[in-house]
Amino acid sequence: MRNTVSDIWKLYKSAEKIACVTAYDSTSALLADRAGVDLLLVGDSLGMTVLGHETTVPVSLEDCLRHSAAVVRGSEEALVVADMPFMSYHGSSHEALKNATRFMQESLVSAVKIEGGEEVSDLVKLMVQGGIPVMGHIGLLPQAVLVKGGYKVRGRTEEDEEQLLKDALSLQEAGAFAIVMECVKKEAAERIVAAVDIPIIGIGSGAICDGQVQVMHDILGLDPRFTPRHARKYLNLAEQIEGAFGQYKQDVKSSFFPSDENWY
Ligand code: KIV
Repeated sequence: MRNTVSDIWKLYKSAEKIACVTAYDSTSALLADRAGVDLLLVGDSLGMTVLGHETTVPVSLEDCLRHSAAVVRGSEEALVVADMPFMSYHGSSHEALKNATRFMQESLVSAVKIEGGEEVSDLVKLMVQGGIPVMGHIGLLPQAVLVKGGYKVRGRTEEDEEQLLKDALSLQEAGAFAIVMECVKKEAAERIVAAVDIPIIGIGSGAICDGQVQVMHDILGLDPRFTPRHARKYLNLAEQIEGAFGQYKQDVKSSFFPSDENWY
């Protein structure tokens, strides 16, 4: 049985940490699901991890819909949450609701995630009223990277800390079932976790959070070029995969592969 928002809430209420990871395709979704990960996020980070873009800005609605559907097909138990991509929820609320509905009806995800705090809380309320569970996202907002001039840690000043707290409380008030909090400094993160009554899922925001989300490629060591400070590499798959491809190439060149057992 697939987890529902209530199951995520049960974990929160029993103080069990919520384990979340991003997934973009059905095979990795299957593996994370078998490992018992509670929630799979089809992050728009797929722009960088899968599509080779420099930011999440070029990711389209169709990209997210397609990858979200694949993750749903590959998994059975984890709650699947789809990221709504850049500018897919910033036009009219009518358009935003229409786009969110596509994730629920076409990709068959269980919830959507949108970036922003106070400024999107009216929209969150409309979505929840319409029956769409919403995960908020505060702190560092990757879709705003061009406006902010880079990826910046949040909560460095008293003023920013206050804003983040307002953002979290307004998302809670609007009915968000959980909030991703990205790269928020210790004091601010502690204040927010203590102040809100919905799960705060951290990334780069400390162990104080009610759960953690990480990008799959970062924890598996899939990208040889970069690992962010907030990630822990549980594998070095880049090295292993490169080695396997090299061995395969050598075996083909030397006719060591295929052997008779690979022949029909
Ligand atoms: O797109 C993504 O993967 C995300 C996580 C980093 C939270 O939003």
